[in-house]
Amino acid sequence: MRFDVLTLFPEIFSGYLTQSLLKRAIERGLVSIHLWNIRDWSPDPKHHKVDDRPFGGGPGMVLMCEPVVSAVEAVQAKAEPPGHLVMLTPQGERLTHGLVRELARHPRLILLCGRYEGFDERIRILLKPQEVSIGDYVCNGGEVPAMVVIDTVIRFVPGVLGDESSVVEESHAEPGLVEYPQYTRPRVFRGLEVPEVLLSGNHEAIARWRHEQARLRSKKQAHEGS
Ligand SMILES: C[S@@+](CC[C@H](N)C(=O)[O-])C[C@H]1O[C@@H](n2cnc3c(N)ncnc32)[C@H](O)[C@@H]1O
Repeated sequence: MRFDVLTLFPEIFSGYLTQSLLKRAIERGLVSIHLWNIRDWSPDPKHHKVDDRPFGGGPGMVLMCEPVVSAVEAVQAKAEPPGHLVMLTPQGERLTHGLVRELARHPRLILLCGRYEGFDERIRILLKPQEVSIGDYVCNGGEVPAMVVIDTVIRFVPGVLGDESSVVEESHAEPGLVEYPQYTRPRVFRGLEVPEVLLSGNHEAIARWRHEQARLRSKKQAHEGS
């Protein structure tokens, strides 16, 4: 799967791309990530300006149409297919397990990261992106939200996870259900023991216990979230 990320700060991604699961997925050719600096499409060759003051007044700066639209169109044309355009914005559809799974069906995603006060409205009208929010709060830029999208979507790319059953069993795979408690060695830590059933070798009893724990935990989470 191919990701193209359009950003004003490509360097933010360097640590993230060179670690752990994503690093391995890139090395194995399962995922490719292409970073593009929107400033490279600025019509201002001297200062590489990409933002300006909002018409009507108000705080901050707004990303201008020309560099953003030109950048997206140029990046779309760099490979086939042109890709599914996602604009990261707190005004978008909330990213959920279901939306992640939907996004993972595209062979190529183009992730557009905003900064400052966000995008000139005509960028939305012209490019018709899918608008995605990672939650009801405001980040300083779209880079961390883009990493969240990449991090969650690659889990659905065949071969990226060692064990494909992870995505089926984990939290939110079933709406409203979070995962059961997990334990590893040692069997006792500061007086806290691993539940006996997990040491029993009885797979049916373990599955029953996990299911019940997941149900209780999900109920508690739903109660706390309401
Ligand atoms: C400071 S925010 C702009 C917020 C905008 N003024 C508003 O109130 O909707 C700058 C950029 O960060 C990104 N961003 C911030 N919060 C986000 C969120 N919750 N989900 C996705 N992207 C977000 C977007 O790309 C946005 O254009």
